[in-house]
Amino acid sequence: MDAPDKSAKPFLSDVTTLRARARKHLADGAVTAAYVGDVQQTIDILQTVLATEIVCVLRYTMHSIAAAGISSDSVKKEFAEHAREEREHMTAVAERINQLGGKPDFNPEGLATRSASQYAEGENLVDMIRENLIAERIAVEHYRELIRYFGDDDPTTRVMLEGILGVEEEHANDMHDLLVAHEGVPMLPD
Ligand SMILES: [Fe+2]
Ligand SMILES: [Fe+2]
Repeated sequence: MDAPDKSAKPFLSDVTTLRARARKHLADGAVTAAYVGDVQQTIDILQTVLATEIVCVLRYTMHSIAAAGISSDSVKKEFAEHAREEREHMTAVAERINQLGGKPDFNPEGLATRSASQYAEGENLVDMIRENLIAERIAVEHYRELIRYFGDDDPTTRVMLEGILGVEEEHANDMHDLLVAHEGVPMLPD
């Protein structure tokens, strides 16, 4: 006869302990005692990501309205679509800051200095596309670095950033293709 499976017991008690611990720290949001990273450091980093996304929302929204000229209609739509997606990123990052017990910083004061990308209006359609391509490349580079930084210490934040990164890479490709379509050749080195 097989011996009674004693491994089930510690597992169950572990689950109970985990639940009790999670409940005890409920007031601290989603962060459990097992959180490996420095929570305040994570919040500070995410505030810069939040500022970056807000600036992206503003820049694409402005471009979607200001873009003018021949064949600008499809570009305007693309800018508007990107503005919507940047808004989703902005919300996701703000929610994560909130979960970690921080207060998402939406203060317009100092926004540009907190952001990793800049708000550039662009003189014409091609300028706008170029500014967006530059901003997307900075975001991609920055987020790749952050994903490596969070690693296994904060998988929730890392997975969120991986999702955002995928969309920023698409944005960069879209802007690159538009630049090629409107300029013939890309104006930026790869
Ligand atoms: Fe974004
Ligand atoms: Fe983007």
